[in-house]
Amino acid sequence: MDQYAQTSMSYVQENNLSNSSRRIFSKKLDSFEETYKIFVHSIVNNYFPTVENRNTSLNYCPPIPPDLQGPLIIHEVPKTFSLTSNSSYHTDVQFGGYYQPKACLARHKVAIIVPYRDRWDILTHFLFHTHQILQRQQLDYRIYVCEQAFNTTFNKGIVMNGCFKEILKLEPDTPCFIMHDVDLLLIDDRNMYTCPLYPRHLSVAVDKFKFYLPYAQLVGGVLAMRREHYLLVNGYSTNYWGWGGEDDDMHARIVKKHLKVERPPTSIARYKMLKHTHQKLNPARMKVLRTAHIRIDSDGVNNVKYNLLNTTFYHLYTHFLIDVGEQPK
Ligand code: UDP
Ligand code: BGC
Ligand code: MN
Repeated sequence: MDQYAQTSMSYVQENNLSNSSRRIFSKKLDSFEETYKIFVHSIVNNYFPTVENRNTSLNYCPPIPPDLQGPLIIHEVPKTFSLTSNSSYHTDVQFGGYYQPKACLARHKVAIIVPYRDRWDILTHFLFHTHQILQRQQLDYRIYVCEQAFNTTFNKGIVMNGCFKEILKLEPDTPCFIMHDVDLLLIDDRNMYTCPLYPRHLSVAVDKFKFYLPYAQLVGGVLAMRREHYLLVNGYSTNYWGWGGEDDDMHARIVKKHLKVERPPTSIARYKMLKHTHQKLNPARMKVLRTAHIRIDSDGVNNVKYNLLNTTFYHLYTHFLIDVGEQPK
């Protein structure tokens, strides 16, 4: 039995499911394994040597990172900070936005997935701000900026799924994915960017919503998910063009696959949202959402269509340029 099936089985045992749910779950496991096989085939050999070359003579980092500061002040971006020239800030970050602690062995390896288009100043602020936090959290991390190419309607689901697949080609052993809107700046570094047993919604209290969760099903903003759970729910739906709904669809998937959504306490899961222009509202979003539960296994990461146009390794991020195609008429 492969590593992923084992993880899923231990999930069944740990949660002490009834016999009937166990039968349902093992059926799901079959489709999960099929999905997983597709990924194994798509994995190429050119991943980064740094991933495997961890210095195992080091001790693990402490369970609670010692340098966390708690509530943070959000600083303006210094005039001398630039994403295009080699930055004299974040000098411990390696090419492609990669970091691992030097003095201890990271307990968590994570990929930060940032969907992106046409918000350069916001991206600059996000990277300036977020790298220092992830370093204090003593993570082994890489920030991926996944840019939708051309001027077509934004499709966050395709961008996310495409990016997820490309990350697994580069670093097949990535176990944890943090899906992160570019405009959210974390204002308390105790909100750990790790993947617990269940998907965890990290952006609970956003200033735009007066630091209250607007509704219980919200998983938009920042969401942490284990790789096997992302595969289990078949990633994001690819059927939401324009603003809204794809995150609500993700919530429906999580529930349908018998997972739960965890949340850190409101007192630490706090974010500032940077001001931005608004994208075109998707008028069909509620209609598409009504069929979420029947599309899960046929619409997602297992059948996503996209073209990877370019991969570039900048100092502070790995950049994927993704063509999602045109919205079907
Ligand atoms: N996004 C982007 N450019 C766009 C549209 C969306 O970069 O033109 C990304 C970005 O990461 C953003 C996220 O998609 O934070 C969610 O979109 P948006 O901020 O427009 O929606 P909100 O969550 O503010 O309602
Ligand atoms: C939309 C979501 C969005 C949420 C908060 C909902 O109506 O469907 O996509 O994240 O509002 O803005
Ligand atoms: Mn936003």
